[in-house]
Amino acid sequence: MLKDSKLVIETLGGNIVKDSARPIWLMRQAGRYLPEYHEIRKKSGSFLNLCYNPKLATEVSLQPINRFDFDASIVFSDILVIPDALGQKVDFIEGSGPLLEVIDDIQDLNKLIPSNLDNFLNKLNPVYETIDNLKSKLPKKTTLIGFAGAPWTIITYMLLGKSNQDLNICLNKLNNDEQFTKKIFDLLIYTISEHLIMQIKAGSEAIQIFDSWAGFLQGDDYIKYSLNPTKEIVKNVRLVYPDIPIIGFQKKYKNENNNEKTLLLINDSGIDCISLEETIDKEYILNNLPKNKVIQGCLSSKTLKTGINLEKEIIEILDLFKNVPHIFNLGHGIDKDTPIKNVEFLVKTVREYKR
Ligand code: CP3
Repeated sequence: MLKDSKLVIETLGGNIVKDSARPIWLMRQAGRYLPEYHEIRKKSGSFLNLCYNPKLATEVSLQPINRFDFDASIVFSDILVIPDALGQKVDFIEGSGPLLEVIDDIQDLNKLIPSNLDNFLNKLNPVYETIDNLKSKLPKKTTLIGFAGAPWTIITYMLLGKSNQDLNICLNKLNNDEQFTKKIFDLLIYTISEHLIMQIKAGSEAIQIFDSWAGFLQGDDYIKYSLNPTKEIVKNVRLVYPDIPIIGFQKKYKNENNNEKTLLLINDSGIDCISLEETIDKEYILNNLPKNKVIQGCLSSKTLKTGINLEKEIIEILDLFKNVPHIFNLGHGIDKDTPIKNVEFLVKTVREYKR
C-alpha cells in the first residue's frame, strides 16, 4: 500500500510502479457524445429526472465503462442537485443549460434552510442508491467516484440563475452583506459535506470537488470564498472518512492567472489530487508539486474533439508527468461533439504508452 500517495492512484486501478499503464477516466464521461446516452435521456424526460432515477442513472454511468473500460466511474448526477434538494427551483433548458429561480436576499435564503437534514438527504437518496447499484455492477478494478460542487461555484448559480453571468454581481453581493454571506456559506459547507459523506457511505471510493468558477476570484476573495470553504469541507469529510482520496478541481477564468491559486489549492486545502485544467502552466505545477500529491489531467477537450495534434498532445502529457503519480484525464468535461473514435484512440494511446 502506497500510503504516501494517499492511494488515489491505487484506487484508480493503477499504481506508480514504473512501467504500469497510466489510469484514465474523463470528466463528464457519461453524456451527449454517446448515442446510448441520448436513448436513455429521451426515456427519462428532464435531465434532473435522469439524475434522480437510480436505474437509469446507473445505466448511464456504466455506458462509458462498458465502451472504454475506464479505470474510474463517476456517478451520474450534477452539482446543482444541492440547490434543488434545498428547495430552490432548478431547471435544465435544452441547449442552454441550467436555469434557477434566483436567491435575492436573506428571506429567500431562509426558506432554503432545511428544518432537518433528513429532508434534504431524502431528496438526494436516489444519488446514493445509484452509487450503491454501481458498486455492485462495476468491475472490481474500477474505482467509483462521487462528487459535489464547491460552495462558490454553486453560489454563482444560486444567485445569478445561470452560467456565464457577470460574476462580479455575485461577488459584490457577498462582499456587501456579511450576514447573508455567512449564512449561505454555512448552509453550503454543511450540506455539501453531508452529501459527500453519504456518497462515500454508499460506496464511493474517492470524491472530486468541482470549483469551476474559482479562477474568477482574486487575492483574499479567493481565500475566503473558494479555498477556505473547500478546506472546511475536506476537514468535515475526513472527520468521518480520514483516508478517503479527495480530488480538487478549479478552472481558469478568462485571462486571469490560475497557477498560484492552483498551488494554494494543492498545498492548503487538504486535497490529495489536483485535477488540472488544460491552460495551466504544467511545468510550473510540476516543479512546485509537493511530494505525495497526485496530478490528474489535463488534455484539452478541444484537442480530443478535433483530433488535431491529438497523439502529440497525449504523449506530451504522458511524458511530462511520467515521474509523478498521474491519472490521465481532460482539463475540463468532454465536449458533446467529440467523435467516439477519438476517445478510443486516446484510451489506446494511454494504455500502450510505456513509461
Ligand atoms: O463527469 C460525469 O460524467 C458526471 C456527471 C456530471 C455532470 N455535471 C452531468 C451533466 C458532473 C461531474 C457535472 C458537474 C457540473 N455541472 C459542473 C462542474 C464541472 C464543470 O463542468 O465546470 C457544473 C458547473 C455543472 C452545472 C451544469 N450542468 C451545467 C453548466 C450544465 C449545462 C452545460 C452542458 O454541458 O449542457 C449542466 C448539464 C449537465 N450536467 C449535462 C450532463 C451530462 C448535460 C445535460 C443533458 O443531457 O442535457
